[in-house]
Formats: sequence, C-alpha cells, structure tokens
Amino acid sequence: MRTRVTEMFGIRYPVIQGGMVWVAGWRLAAAVSEAGGLGLIGSGSMKADVLREHIRNAHQATRMPFGVNVPLLREDAEELLLTALEEGITIFFTSAGNPEKFTKPLLDKHCTVVHVVSSVRQAIKAYMAGCHAVVGEGVEAGGHNGPAEISTMCLIPQLVDAVPIPVIAAGGIADGRGLAAALALGAEAVQVGTRFITAVESSAHDTFKRLVLEAADDGTVLTFRALAPVRLLRTPFARRVIEAEQRGATVDELRRLLGRKREMRGMSEGDVEEGQFEAGQCAALVKDIAPASAIIERMITGCHNAIMRVARFTDS
Ligand SMILES: Cc1cc2nc3c(=O)[nH]c(=O)nc-3n(C[C@H](O)[C@H](O)[C@H](O)COP(=O)(O)O)c2cc1C
Repeated sequence: MRTRVTEMFGIRYPVIQGGMVWVAGWRLAAAVSEAGGLGLIGSGSMKADVLREHIRNAHQATRMPFGVNVPLLREDAEELLLTALEEGITIFFTSAGNPEKFTKPLLDKHCTVVHVVSSVRQAIKAYMAGCHAVVGEGVEAGGHNGPAEISTMCLIPQLVDAVPIPVIAAGGIADGRGLAAALALGAEAVQVGTRFITAVESSAHDTFKRLVLEAADDGTVLTFRALAPVRLLRTPFARRVIEAEQRGATVDELRRLLGRKREMRGMSEGDVEEGQFEAGQCAALVKDIAPASAIIERMITGCHNAIMRVARFTDS
C-alpha cells in the first residue's frame, strides 16, 4: 500500500500507532514498526530521562523507523523534544498545543513533523507552521478531544479539501473496515489508539485491557468539557464526573474532582474506582488481546476485503 504517508516514513502499511500516555512505551512502538506500521512512543506520561530510556530500548529492538509524540501543552515539552533529538529521533508527532513554536526548530534539524488537529482552522495553522502532515482526530477518539467535537467522518474530507499536505485519520478506526473508510474519505494513513491498548506489547494495566474488552457500544463518554474534553471508559470515576457535570458543577469543582494522577492510577495501576481510563468509542470493536503484528495484519487484510466488497457493488 503506497500513499504519501508511507513514502514519507518509509513504512509498509499506512498504519500509525498513536502515542498514548501509559500505553505506548518502547515495546509497543518497536513492535508496530517491526510489523510494517509506524510506532510512536507516547512521551506524555514520561519525564525526559524516562523518555531517553524508552528511545534507547526502541533503538535496540528495531531498525525500522519510529517516532515520538509530544503533547505541546506540557511544561517540559521543550525538554522532551530536545531529549528525543539528542537520541536521534527525526519523526515527531506533536499534539495538544500550538504548532507554531516548535515546528520550525524541528524542521531546521531536518525532522518530519506531524501535528494532531481536530478542526479545519487548526489544520491550516499546522500547515502554515510547516508541518509535513496532519492527524485529523475525530471526537470518537480515546483521550483528549478538540472542543469542536467533530466526527472523523465529517472532519477528514474537510481537512483533505483544506490543506495540500497528507491527512492521517484518527478516531474510531479499529479494524480493516475503518482503514478502508478512512482511505475512501481521502486520508493517506490512519492513526490508531484504542485498538492497540490491548496489544500484547502495550504497557496498559491488565485491568485496563479487560475494561476495553468489556466495553459496549456506549462504553465511553466525553467528560470534562469545561476543562479539557477527554473521552473515558464509563468507570465509577467517569460516572462521578458525569453526575457532577449534570448538576452544573463549576470549573473549580471539576478541577478538584479531577485532582492529580488520575491517568496513572487508572491506566497504569488499574484502580477501577479512582482511576481514569482513556479509550475511544471503537473500544466496542476490540475483542481480543493480540500481538501488534497480528492487529496490523488483520487490519490490512480486512481493508483489502472491505475494498473488494465495495468494488463488487459497482461491478454490475
Ligand atoms: C489511552 C490513550 C492515551 C492517549 N494519549 C495520547 C497522548 O498522550 N498524546 C496524543 O497526541 N494522543 C493521545 N491519545 C490519542 C491517540 O494518539 C489517537 O489519536 C486516538 O486514540 C485515535 O482514536 P481511537 O482511540 O479511536 O483509535 C491517546 C489515546 C488513548 C486511547
């Protein structure tokens, strides 16, 4: 499968594994890259020294290209970027913040920079900042969402029309049908998060993996709209947030309810009562724990099958 994105990174399949806090360490990123996709180390839950270790381990584990995701709103974003550069990283997926500040310095160092966007306005901004591609992330996606709450189905074709750089679709893509649909919408690759939570190589707590496997069609909910919208599994903590929001809790109350380290307590430590578990609507499509290589192979086979199925409709 050849698109501008596979060419850009020198990868076999147009499948990128999203950089995910507490889930996407070196094991997952290396396994995805070895399997022909592009693995990303999620630095959002790491201090600089931890990131350095993950990059070194990934370099030991694979010679295939892999990258690092850096959420730009982090206070230490610059330190994370510099650490990744020192360790030889040339592929950066930036998110959650303004792409203007860091894109140019990364381009000066001959890096490939992709920014995650959730609206047409943000995509144009990323393009103007010099990004090589954008990830268009719909509101179905797990984790932090954009305030515009646009679905992947509606967002991707608008981005394709708005910017000349390649668009990578994210949000709700868990199998080959989703990949085929994204390509049909004009995307040139997909960024997959939730499906990889239950990869063998993911560092998600076993309880987190189990919760994803058990999720039903309405198993996730968009919370904390007044702070920073985040899609969570409907666990006891998420229900408390929904209740607070429904009775009109103030921003300060929500901030107090969120407290600190909820992500770590949930996704890394498996605390079902108090933790926060980020996952997308497509959790309902995730049925097993499997090696990253199997997830990708199935996705590619499923994509071919979906395209053939559609082609048969037009044969007659
Ligand atoms: C557990 C989890 C953690 C995530 N953490 C990050 C992150 O640190 N940085 C980021 O840019 N995106 C993050 N995301 C978003 C993913 O990179 C990806 O874009 C998204 O999951 C795609 O939608 P999907 O969940 O429907 O596959 C996270 C998603 C999940 C599910």
